Amino acid sequence: MKMWSGRFRQPLDPDFERWQRSFDFDRRLLRYELAASEAHARALRDAEILSADELIRILQGLQQIGERASVSPEFLEDSEAEDVHHFVEKQLVASIGDAGYKLHSGRSRNEQIATDLRLYTRAAIDQLRGELAELCAAFVARAEDAGETAVPSYTHLQRAEPVLVAHWLLAYVEMFLRDVDRLADCRKRLNACPLGSGAVAGATLPLDRSMMSEQLGFDAPTGNSIDATSDRDFILEFVNTLSLLALHLSRWAEEMILFSTQEYGFVALPESYSTGSSAMPQKKNPDLLELVRGKTGRVSGHAIALMVSIKGLPLAYNKDLQETQEPLFDSADTVMQLLPLVTGWMKAVEFNYERMQQAAQSGFMNAWAAATYLVKRCVPSRLAHERVGKAVQMCLERGCELRDLTLEELRSLSPAFDENFYRALSLPSVLAMHDVQGGTAPARVTQAIGAARKSIESLREEAHAHA
Ligand code: ARG
Repeated sequence: MKMWSGRFRQPLDPDFERWQRSFDFDRRLLRYELAASEAHARALRDAEILSADELIRILQGLQQIGERASVSPEFLEDSEAEDVHHFVEKQLVASIGDAGYKLHSGRSRNEQIATDLRLYTRAAIDQLRGELAELCAAFVARAEDAGETAVPSYTHLQRAEPVLVAHWLLAYVEMFLRDVDRLADCRKRLNACPLGSGAVAGATLPLDRSMMSEQLGFDAPTGNSIDATSDRDFILEFVNTLSLLALHLSRWAEEMILFSTQEYGFVALPESYSTGSSAMPQKKNPDLLELVRGKTGRVSGHAIALMVSIKGLPLAYNKDLQETQEPLFDSADTVMQLLPLVTGWMKAVEFNYERMQQAAQSGFMNAWAAATYLVKRCVPSRLAHERVGKAVQMCLERGCELRDLTLEELRSLSPAFDENFYRALSLPSVLAMHDVQGGTAPARVTQAIGAARKSIESLREEAHAHA
């Protein structure tokens, strides 16, 4: 039996009927639908709409549906079910008889779908945060492996200053930890329970909303029934957060692709995550990285699609809201699949430390340190900059580095140059000079590794608690 056929005289057009159904994709909400239904059934019992016996039969019926779905997926092949809410009602009535129809007393699918989607998103957040902890751990482990190896850092994609490989990798960890925070923030706001909101104006039965909320692990019932049934902010926040996370992964992927080219040669692509060319026998292509970059477009697309779907909707529930489900699921699935693959890639990749270290010592990346040397000897910064610029020009004409200029030549530019200038130019001195919190001096980077490890540990503990 349909959930709404009473006032209709004509059957639905069969094509329309098939087309408007959501069961094909909302079946994945089944476990949340069952949990929310259990909470509702208990509230109905407290409100004396169900007898004690009916409650027991309904709870057993719901449990059975969950069990059957987990042992035989074909149980979910139901071409009549309009959506997951209808499916549960149908199956419940099939197993316990007409008492099953009592479960819908005083509730609406509008509050149910809002509740199911919050539960789904909450679980997805918990899972993603756990995966992000592992991803960050892989980056930090590589940072530790790299020891004091240096690599060029770039601005405008031109060589800028040498940094520790570890410092460079930790830049990504910062981004991912912000994503972790954003997910936690989104979770905080979504964790309110719409049950009892009814279709739009609130339930028509005296249901204990606090009890239902608590049973489902929410912090509190939602505050306004009109908002609760039409709000999808949590989906927008979540998918936008995912699109930002994907964007971080995409920037990482792009940089790895670049660094794996022969022109850079910093990264040897792991064979286990690359493919060859059907035409050019020599090729090893960075497919994982390219797909990571490509999937980012897909997730950002979903974020935009969701905003556009919702922007013109009058309050409260409109069927358009059904269209928020597939972009939500696909965004979560896409990112959920990416994370462990990126973690695996990071564990498998080989860095060419020799080439990195070599590159870190050429291309005048110590020029700022050279100017700072003069500044410390009381030369005004602008003039120091100018003098070192002239020294660079000399080197460029001669095809050498600053360290190759004689003291005489240097003194012709500024009398402040001294013998100890050459030591100040060495890679270890240049690195150590950046001795500020968040800088690339080895001692600071060791601190940063420790801080990252701490964040990862507490994240892992949380993930463990949610599992
Ligand atoms: N499948 C619907 C959705 O995803 C469930 C809510 C239906 N509500 C309604 N009034 N038709 O939004």
